[in-house]
Amino acid sequence: MAGVRPLCLSLCFVSFTVSTSALAEDIDVLVLLPKNTSYIFSIAAVRPALEYARERIVSDTGLLSGLRFRVHYEDSGCGDRALFTLVDRVFTQKPDLILGPVCEYAASDVVRVASHWDIPVVSSGALAAGFARRDRGYTHLTRIGPSYLKMAQSISALFHYFGWQSALLLYEDDREERNCYFTMEAVHSALEPELLSIEALSLYLEERRPDTEDIVRLVADSEVVIMCAGGDIVRDIMLAAHHWKLTNGNYIYFNIELFNASSYGNGSWRRGDQNDTDAKQAYAALNTLTLLRSVKPEFQNFSVEVKRSVQKAGVPDPESGDNVNMFVEGFHDALLLYSLALQEAVKNGFSKKNGSQITQLMWNRTFEGIAGQVSIDANGDRNGDFSVMAMTDLEAGTYKAIFNYFGINGSFQVLPGFNIDRFTLKERDRPVSTEKSCGLGVSTAMGIILGAILGTMLVTALYFFRKYKIIIERRCQQEDYEKGKHHQLYEDSIKSDFL
Ligand SMILES: *[C@@H]1O[C@H](CO)[C@@H](O)[C@H](O)[C@H]1NC(C)=O
Ligand SMILES: *[C@@H]1O[C@H](CO)[C@@H](O)[C@H](O)[C@H]1NC(C)=O
Ligand SMILES: *[C@@H]1O[C@H](CO)[C@@H](O)[C@H](O)[C@H]1NC(C)=O
Ligand SMILES: *[C@@H]1O[C@H](CO)[C@@H](O)[C@H](O)[C@H]1NC(C)=O
Ligand SMILES: *[C@@H]1O[C@H](CO)[C@@H](O)[C@H](O)[C@H]1NC(C)=O
Ligand SMILES: *[C@@H]1O[C@H](CO)[C@@H](O)[C@H](O)[C@H]1NC(C)=O
Ligand SMILES: *[C@@H]1O[C@H](CO)[C@@H](O)[C@H](O)[C@H]1NC(C)=O
Ligand SMILES: *[C@@H]1O[C@H](CO)[C@@H](O)[C@H](O)[C@H]1NC(C)=O
Repeated sequence: MAGVRPLCLSLCFVSFTVSTSALAEDIDVLVLLPKNTSYIFSIAAVRPALEYARERIVSDTGLLSGLRFRVHYEDSGCGDRALFTLVDRVFTQKPDLILGPVCEYAASDVVRVASHWDIPVVSSGALAAGFARRDRGYTHLTRIGPSYLKMAQSISALFHYFGWQSALLLYEDDREERNCYFTMEAVHSALEPELLSIEALSLYLEERRPDTEDIVRLVADSEVVIMCAGGDIVRDIMLAAHHWKLTNGNYIYFNIELFNASSYGNGSWRRGDQNDTDAKQAYAALNTLTLLRSVKPEFQNFSVEVKRSVQKAGVPDPESGDNVNMFVEGFHDALLLYSLALQEAVKNGFSKKNGSQITQLMWNRTFEGIAGQVSIDANGDRNGDFSVMAMTDLEAGTYKAIFNYFGINGSFQVLPGFNIDRFTLKERDRPVSTEKSCGLGVSTAMGIILGAILGTMLVTALYFFRKYKIIIERRCQQEDYEKGKHHQLYEDSIKSDFL
C-alpha cells in the first residue's frame, strides 16, 4: 500500500508542514491542445476541466495548499505546429509543466524537446506504443490516459483465457492522425509473440467504402477478427460477414471503440435502411472493446459543470453523452497528479525546476482522480481498465458490458449477461496451418505489387473495383523474422515495429 497516496484534504494538514519557499512563485503551465473544436480534446473542451481542478487545488486547505497556477493555452494543431508553438513559447517563458499534446505526431516532437529541457509532460493522449519506450527520448512523459498497449494487453489476456490461436486485424488508415493504425500497432505487438498466425490489413479509403466481400474472404482464414474503423465500415464488414454465414459462432469479432463507445453499441447497427434487420443479426456476433469508466457522484457533478461551461462558451459539443470523455477527465487528473508530485518533491528539498525528479514522483503511484482511482505504473503509464460490450438483448439489439478487465492486476470480472458460448469457437475446419503462412490468399487480386515499402517487405494488393479503391497491405511475418524486426515508420517520428 506504500504506493497508494490518496489525495487527502484536511487530514494531511496536520501530518507535516509544507515548505512553501520554492512555491512562492506561481507554477507556469503550458497547455498544448488543438484549437479546432471538432477534436473532443480541444482547448475549449479541456479548459473548464483544468479550471475545475485548479479551483479544487487552490481551495484545498491540506496537502496541496499554496499551489497557484498560471495556465497558458496554445494551439497545438495535431501535427508539426505543436513543436513550433512550444519553441516560441519558451522564448518568453519556460513552463514548469506541459499538458498535452494528445495527437501522436504532435506529442512525439514536443515530448522529446521537453524531455531535453527537463520539463515534465503529462498527457491523456500520446497513446501509441512507441511512447512506452521512454529511453527513446520520452523520459519526461507521463501518460494519464490508458495507452493502446494497455488496451492491447487486455486483448492478449482474452486470447490467453479463451485459447484463440489466430487473428486478423482490420483497420482504417487515414494516413494523417492514424488513430486506428496506432491502435492496431499495439494489438499487433501484444499478440504477435503468442499467436500461430496474425495478419494485418490496412484499409486506405480513397473514394468510397471498401468492397467488403473481398475482406470477408480474408476473414475466413482466421479465428478472431479485430477491427478499428468508422461505424459505416464496421457495419459493411459485419453485413458482408453475415451474408457469407460467418457470424454463426465460427468466428469471433471485436471492434475497438475506446473513446466514443457510449454511443456505439446500442443502435449503431441502425441506419433506417433495408439492411437494418440483417445488421442487427450480424451485430449479435460483434463485441465492442471500450474503456471502463467509473462514475462516482463527484464525477457526474464534474461532468455537468464542465459540459455547462463548454456550452456557455458557445462551443459545439461533438459528443452526445452526459459524461465528459476520457481526455478531459485525464487532464483534470493530470494537474492533480502533478501537484501531488510537486508537493512531495518540494518537501524533499527539490525545486519545481527539477523536472526529472517530479516526473519520477508521478510514476508508480496510485491516487484518487475525479472519476475514481488512477494508478500509474513504474514506467509512467496509466493502468487502464477496459470493458467488452456485447448484444445482450437480441430483440431490441441493445448492448451491455459483459466483462471488465482491470489493468492494475490483470484480472477479469464477469458480469451478468456473459455467456461462454459466445467466445467458444464452434468446430470447423481450421484453415489455420501450423506454419506461418505468407502471401496473398485472395484469388481476385487484380494487380499485385511485391516490394519493399517503408523499409519492410509488404505484400500490397491493389484492388480496382468500379469506383472503389482499397489498398490492402499485408504484413508478411516470415520476411520480418528474417530481416530483423526493426523498421521505422516515419523517419523523425514515432518509432514503430509495425508495418
Ligand atoms: C513501485 O512502488 C512499490 C511500492 O511502493 C515498490 O515496491 C517498487 O519497488 C516500486 N517500483 C519501482 C520500479 O520503482
Ligand atoms: C477542424 O477539423 C476538421 C476535421 O479534422 C476539419 O474538417 C476542419 O476544416 C477544421 N477546421 C479548421 C478551422 O481548421
Ligand atoms: C444495403 O441496402 C442498400 C439499399 O438500401 C443496398 O443497395 C446495399 O447494397 C445494402 N448494403 C449492404 C452492405 O448489404
Ligand atoms: C461518436 O459516435 C457517434 C455515433 O456513432 C457519431 O455520430 C459521432 O460523430 C462520434 N463522435 C466522435 C467525436 O467521434
Ligand atoms: C456538485 O457541485 C455543487 C456546486 O458546484 C455542490 O453544491 C454539490 O454538493 C455537488 N454535488 C456532489 C454530489 O458533489
Ligand atoms: C534533480 O534531482 C536529481 C536527484 O533525483 C539530481 O540528481 C539532479 O541533479 C537534480 N537536477 C537539478 C536540475 O537540480
Ligand atoms: C443500451 O440500452 C439498454 C436499454 O435501453 C440499456 O440498459 C443499456 O445500458 C444500454 N447500453 C449502452 C452501452 O448504452
Ligand atoms: C483487481 O483490481 C480490481 C480493481 O481495483 C478489483 O476490483 C479486483 O478485485 C482485483 N482482482 C484481484 C484478483 O485482485
